[in-house]
Amino acid sequence: MSLKKVLVVNRAFPAVGIDLLKAKVNVKVVPYLDHEPESIPEIKKYVNGSDALVWNTRHRLTGEILDLAGPQLKAVTTNSSGIDHIDVAEVTKRGIRLGNTPNVLNEAVADITLGLLIGAARRFKEGIRELESGNWKYGVNGMLGQDIAGSTVGIVGFGGIGQSVVKRLKGFNVAKFIYSGRSDKPEAKELNVERVPQEQLLKESDYVILSCPLTEQTKNMINANSLKAMKKNCVLINIGRGGLVDQEALYTALKEGDIFAAGLDVMIPEPLPKDHPLISLPNCFIIPHMGSATFETRNAMAVISANNVLLALEDKPMQYPIC
Ligand code: DGY
Repeated sequence: MSLKKVLVVNRAFPAVGIDLLKAKVNVKVVPYLDHEPESIPEIKKYVNGSDALVWNTRHRLTGEILDLAGPQLKAVTTNSSGIDHIDVAEVTKRGIRLGNTPNVLNEAVADITLGLLIGAARRFKEGIRELESGNWKYGVNGMLGQDIAGSTVGIVGFGGIGQSVVKRLKGFNVAKFIYSGRSDKPEAKELNVERVPQEQLLKESDYVILSCPLTEQTKNMINANSLKAMKKNCVLINIGRGGLVDQEALYTALKEGDIFAAGLDVMIPEPLPKDHPLISLPNCFIIPHMGSATFETRNAMAVISANNVLLALEDKPMQYPIC
């Protein structure tokens, strides 16, 4: 019997995942990185005849790609926790199984959240710019930032990442933790985090941390109105998805001083062009979607991705099924 065919759409997919797949199936790896322009045409060239796909977050998985793959396509895993780039309706309509790689990245993303929070609150970008341009200015009133101690921290979306963030911040003498989200989280009680309506969270928080998925309901949840409702000293952190924030409104709010600073791991588009207005702002501390980028976490994600498709191809439940 011939081996099943699995297409891995990014040449940077970790070797540990490739080795697992190669032990059981025929693996083709698209020879480009996900942001390289050749990537999508090459995916389209190779996808036909695949039994399973190991997808990434950069490309939308559309009905067109699924049709190009053909009716034998049985399983897709995205090598990510987020699934906003997948047309789930098109996948389910065709009876294809879909999986992702949640949980395993909670700690790494929580670490980067704290990095962004401190970096934005304490003006790392401005400081580094001054230092590197030879323009370092001393003074007791120079480069003043915001304290974490005594603050109210609001988490929008209190899933595994949000909870890991709170566990870390417990050591920072935060005065109050609050969260907003679709449902009550049982873990909140033990962590002493109170659920409040989102409007209240935006109004009361000194730090607003977005750690929720991007959906039709959450798209542009931070917009001109919500930014106006936030405190002037507020620091906004986004480690969810760029689409949660209306970036033009954010630019205006940061420029006008409606909020103090922002720390972004995610944005639209990715990669962000170097002349993008947000990059010009000294109080917008941006890093290039590095939340899960540690050796250990990316390897663990690759193992789950490989297991997801191998299990589905054996007609077993995926390790982390979406549908
Ligand atoms: C995820 O897994 O969704 C992270 O944002 C990395 O892409």
